[in-house]
Amino acid sequence: SKLRMFVDKLPDMPRIKGYDVINGIHVPKSFKIGMYHKKWKFHRDLPATEVFAYGTSWHTATVPGPTIEALHSVDSYIKWKNYLPSKHILPWDPTLPTATPSSKKGIPTVVHLHGGIDKPQSDGHSEAWFTRGFKDHGPKWTNRKYHYHNLQHPGTMWYHDHAMGLTRVNILAGLMGAYVIQQPSVEEPLGLLYGEEYDRPLVVFDRGFRSDGSIYMNSTGNNPSIHPQWQPEYFGDAIIVNGKAWPYMKVKRRKYRFRIINASNARFFKFFFTNNMTFIHVASDSAYHERPVELHDLLLAPSEIADVIVNFSKSKSNSAILANDAAYPYPSGDPVNDANGKVMKFVIDPHHEVYTGHIPHKLMMYPSPDVSKSSNTRYIAFYEYTNGEEPTHLYINGKSFEASVTETPRVGTSEIWNIINLTEDNHPMHIHLGLFVVLEQRELVNLEEFKKCMTKLNDAIKCKINKYSHGKRTNVPLHEKGWKNVFKMMPGHVTKILVKFSFIHSNESYPFDATAEPGYVYHCHFRREYTSVMIVPTGVGAAIG
Ligand code: C2O
Repeated sequence: SKLRMFVDKLPDMPRIKGYDVINGIHVPKSFKIGMYHKKWKFHRDLPATEVFAYGTSWHTATVPGPTIEALHSVDSYIKWKNYLPSKHILPWDPTLPTATPSSKKGIPTVVHLHGGIDKPQSDGHSEAWFTRGFKDHGPKWTNRKYHYHNLQHPGTMWYHDHAMGLTRVNILAGLMGAYVIQQPSVEEPLGLLYGEEYDRPLVVFDRGFRSDGSIYMNSTGNNPSIHPQWQPEYFGDAIIVNGKAWPYMKVKRRKYRFRIINASNARFFKFFFTNNMTFIHVASDSAYHERPVELHDLLLAPSEIADVIVNFSKSKSNSAILANDAAYPYPSGDPVNDANGKVMKFVIDPHHEVYTGHIPHKLMMYPSPDVSKSSNTRYIAFYEYTNGEEPTHLYINGKSFEASVTETPRVGTSEIWNIINLTEDNHPMHIHLGLFVVLEQRELVNLEEFKKCMTKLNDAIKCKINKYSHGKRTNVPLHEKGWKNVFKMMPGHVTKILVKFSFIHSNESYPFDATAEPGYVYHCHFRREYTSVMIVPTGVGAAIG
């Protein structure tokens, strides 16, 4: 049976301030957020669903979790506490490299602040997992309390589970939430801080449900005799925004700010409004642009973020549907259907326009990438590798996640990375600690020949990458030209980026040691059950300098 759309009101997740105020002064704050097993109503007509939820208590835990509002340069200390039961609510593939508690009991979890610039011990390394009551922990675990410096530029991020081999199911179960750094001294003059009611994070993901309300996850793999539950990408037909399937929101005829986070496993969204309204794109993953960009449609890969202004006073109709037309898998999979082609509905007040100021022509001027200052050039090839009976493995330069550290950039420097995507899919690549600017994206010529060489030598230079990297150039869209932490690596293309380790705009000196164990990772954000294999540690050997 079909669920009716637009019957649940869009929730605003609970907001937690990441700072305290004492005598009018903003001071650091220490607090706890738990992970709880509970039931959550995704839709009026769907029985409540078993989920894992973040919250300050079992009662207040939500899917997605609370929005954490931190203040620039005021530290937040969070103790993430695991209250999960001994058994998972979703199946995972036991044959994959997966965090495994020695007692075999408990659910390994660890939290990564996606886009955060913090020390490695607080970055949520996949092997720094822990179980209920910190009873058991992974080999890279060091400390119970995470320290977030909030010293980076203002922007929108998200936190989510990051445990080895379980990231995918832990997030599918509900472990994710928004995290915003505000810096009123530079944001207020822009006139874009509209206050809680008009500045809304939208955490969007897809899920499938059984009629009893439980999350549907196919548990028969493509090659069940070896990997019983392995399915490369997860897709569900229900589109969930802030924990409700196809919700609605009543809005005034004024500007709203939406911080849209694609928290899906593998679904890309190409958002558009059915009444032709536009998005004024002001920022993407964790950083503002130099100038706003007006868009009719907005393509977001898993884990990308779009911070947009929508001006409802421009609407000719009294309602608008936020729709989606991204094929899945993107770009060459199935076209959207009636269900996953709709996201949510806005019901627009027919009366009074409310003037809410204009959007400035200039936003933030961050230092533009200086290629001449790059201290290193790397070639990083993603490819899939089939070994007889075995299903496909994902590798970076021929190495799996278990291999030792491959990249050792120095803190404070910039590097050029050429990301070579030899797989069939568009991979949203994410680098921890570093922010990057996309310089160029080009199609590879004679791809098969190059692939053959790479399978043998695992080395782009030895395989004469320059002979292959001069194909057709794809334009980087204007609104994706700024600093980002995720980018869509097109299949059969080489994407050249300038990445900075790291990017603390206001103060280039480091308040912490980024060189310590366990280091940082970079990876594709599909969170396949094989995602972890694509994660390669970087920066462990980085030296301040
Ligand atoms: Cu959003 Cu390493 O992850």
